[in-house]
Amino acid sequence: MRAYIINEHPDWIVPLGKALEASGVPWAEWYTDAGRLALDKEPPEGIWFNRMSASSHTRGHVHAVTHARELVGWLESHGRRVLNGTRALTLEMSKLQQHAALNAAGIATPRTLAVIGGAKEILAGAREAIPAIGTPFILKPNRGGKGLGVRLVSELSQLEAYLASADLSESPDGVWLIQEYIRAAEPCITRCEFVGGEFVYAIRSSTAEGFELCPADGCGTCSTAGAKFSLRHGFDDPILDQLRGFIAGQGLDVCGIEFIEDASGNKFVYDINGTTNYNPAIEADAGQGGATQRLMALMARELAAASERCSVPQP
Ligand SMILES: Nc1ncnc2c1ncn2[C@@H]1O[C@H](COP(=O)(O)OP(=O)(O)O)[C@@H](O)[C@H]1O
Ligand SMILES: [Mg+2]
Repeated sequence: MRAYIINEHPDWIVPLGKALEASGVPWAEWYTDAGRLALDKEPPEGIWFNRMSASSHTRGHVHAVTHARELVGWLESHGRRVLNGTRALTLEMSKLQQHAALNAAGIATPRTLAVIGGAKEILAGAREAIPAIGTPFILKPNRGGKGLGVRLVSELSQLEAYLASADLSESPDGVWLIQEYIRAAEPCITRCEFVGGEFVYAIRSSTAEGFELCPADGCGTCSTAGAKFSLRHGFDDPILDQLRGFIAGQGLDVCGIEFIEDASGNKFVYDINGTTNYNPAIEADAGQGGATQRLMALMARELAAASERCSVPQP
């Protein structure tokens, strides 16, 4: 019996695989951009950890999300334990779903209008949204990752010029968010990491150089920016209770949740990530009980529980 990692990213599997090996957790990659599903058979015994990336299309893996969804559905229909299963995958792939779920849980979010379509619809959406959300505002694709395609738009004329230009970024599902810009008290956001429902630590990410804020070591967008991320030692805030309650109801076994704090101390949650690659410098700073260690302990526990279930004779 082993832990299968549902993965599409060639680099992300490497540090995770090393950590699993060091922890003695038997594992294998379940690659999601190509392959087969033997629907008439039982899935292998074991546990699965869904690490499907929202930015897979940028690596040419345009069907990987669909494949992951079908795979996870098949596994769950056979009662297999999938960490970050169907609900988490749905949230990962849609900022609209994140927004609706956060609002329903009473967690503050930036005011947002969803737009389905291209340049014409985005412009009409902006005209409709501006009286409520003001300017500048944020334009971003529904299925995001690494801050790709996230733009700060100062006014309607700037949006018109952008939409007319060739560099309109892609929204893989054709859905856009026109969102209230939260003016941060300091040029940074906070990202809270949770493993197995427990808060691990909060990271401060500087936004001074832009919106591409992937904390992974070696991630193309940020590998040179060592000081961009730092640990918020001793972070403790009522928002953690809200977030813990939220993730427990959403099947988010492992996640990183981002918020911005404005000058009045209000916190607005705007991004939920199920595929954090823990930054080695942050992990070293966190010391014992960092996110990687917690994740390894969770995987070992889940594997032992699956093994136990397997060994109990079925009535
Ligand atoms: N509503 C907002 N107000 C202010 N800044 C924002 C807002 N939405 C996004 N940003 C900035 O853009 C970055 C990337 O946006 P995000 O929604 O996290 O996309 P991704 O899923 O690609 O990471 C954020 O970390 C933040 O710095
Ligand atoms: Mg983000």
